[in-house]
Amino acid sequence: MNHADLVGLIEGGVTEHGGRWADLGAGEGAFTRALADLLGPGAHITAVDRDGGALRNLESESFPGLVVETKVGDFTRELGLSNLNGIVMANSLHFVRDKAHVLELVRKMLRPGGKLIVVEYGTDRGNPWVPHPFSYPKWERMAAQAGFVGTRLLRTIPSRHLGSIYSAVSER
Ligand SMILES: C[S@@+](CC[C@H](N)C(=O)[O-])C[C@H]1O[C@@H](n2cnc3c(N)ncnc32)[C@H](O)[C@@H]1O
Repeated sequence: MNHADLVGLIEGGVTEHGGRWADLGAGEGAFTRALADLLGPGAHITAVDRDGGALRNLESESFPGLVVETKVGDFTRELGLSNLNGIVMANSLHFVRDKAHVLELVRKMLRPGGKLIVVEYGTDRGNPWVPHPFSYPKWERMAAQAGFVGTRLLRTIPSRHLGSIYSAVSER
């Protein structure tokens, strides 16, 4: 996927400029950059990953007008983030088997009306690299059970791995 594909996947969930967002499981920052483009100047993004090495590229980049900070941390535990306008979890929630606990933590990080955007493979069958994926119909149920509202599918694109990738947005 190129940068335009990444922007296209999440743009429907980013309806306001600026604000405070987090990218949980940011890795090398592909979606952090897409988010930075969409939020524009004035935004503050915290890119979180348990792998500090993966975050290093982002640390050496400049984002004119935005603050992009990195944080080494585990999103299955309290991260000390709160009152966020939005959170992106791209290809990261599928590493967690018991997602209810993580979704409770994620929901608490958002302000009322705050957005959660997930990007995931469109399958419920995992493999060693994508251990616990969830299709969009399953996500709709999981998000509702975790207390999120207004969940909707944003975009689906074909993928060489596991058939397709979708993006979806929910609200606290
Ligand atoms: C497949 S990569 C996706 C990176 C980026 N979001 C993207 O889509 O290009 C998954 C990332 O999630 C991170 N990750 C997985 N479980 C995590 C956890 N519990 N806490 C923090 N990061 C985690 C991994 O270290 C890895 O960098």
